[in-house]
Amino acid sequence: MIIIAGGIKGGSGKTTVATNLAVIRAGQGNDVLLVDADDQETATDFTNLRNEQDGVANRYTSIKLTGAAVRTEILKLRTKYQDIIIDTGGRDTTSQRAAMTIADVLLVPFVPRSFDVWTLEKVSALVEEMRTVNPKLQACSFLNRADPRGQDNADAGEVLRDCSALSFIDLQLGARKAFSNAAAQGMSVTELRHADPKAISEILLLYKYIFDTENISERYQQAGA
Ligand SMILES: Nc1ncnc2c1ncn2[C@@H]1O[C@H](COP(=O)(O)OP(=O)(O)OP(=O)(O)O)[C@@H](O)[C@H]1O
Ligand SMILES: [Mg+2]
Repeated sequence: MIIIAGGIKGGSGKTTVATNLAVIRAGQGNDVLLVDADDQETATDFTNLRNEQDGVANRYTSIKLTGAAVRTEILKLRTKYQDIIIDTGGRDTTSQRAAMTIADVLLVPFVPRSFDVWTLEKVSALVEEMRTVNPKLQACSFLNRADPRGQDNADAGEVLRDCSALSFIDLQLGARKAFSNAAAQGMSVTELRHADPKAISEILLLYKYIFDTENISERYQQAGA
């Protein structure tokens, strides 16, 4: 499966999601390629940091690609890996578009804040445009850095649920220090010595949702997209 962590908003959690999924998926014994398609190279920094840690197995392969090469190189590599996870930058870039021409799933995290949710319309238009070249592209939205309380999660969820181009995954990653602490050590939240059970359970729910392909297809069809 080729999965993109994308969208057009900076800081929404794309790299957090891409790296956690890559670590967990590879840890389950799958051949995973993590593609850094963001010129900021945060996913590559994560991998470099990870490689310096003692006692942390780096079971995935990491490469950096940009522009049209995201498509051409992945097309060559796709048979060599079970899963390819592509981290993109927080803008509508050639790299992200190239990824969307060949991906199975686009995952778009949204922070439950107005400026973030306002990008939904543009993401939706982008997805519909890319489906003209890649009709199999499934697109999913979900909340990241969700608030522990208050109305904002529900309000943002309502807007996301109303979008027909992206199907809303009704699970969320809370705003938890474990996510940033893990990233700072080149680890997934599942690997932290001081484990945060809530963060682990949230990322595993997302993981299970995504890699249960039937689940994704079903939801996608229900969304009428
Ligand atoms: N659920 C979360 N809880 C707490 N902190 C988070 C969470 N998700 C992401 N962060 C933190 O928020 C910041 C932005 O996250 P991340 O780098 O994953 O976003 P991004 O979408 O990849 O950003 P960019 O657009 O710059 O590539 C990071 O410092 C990260 O550790
Ligand atoms: Mg990033």
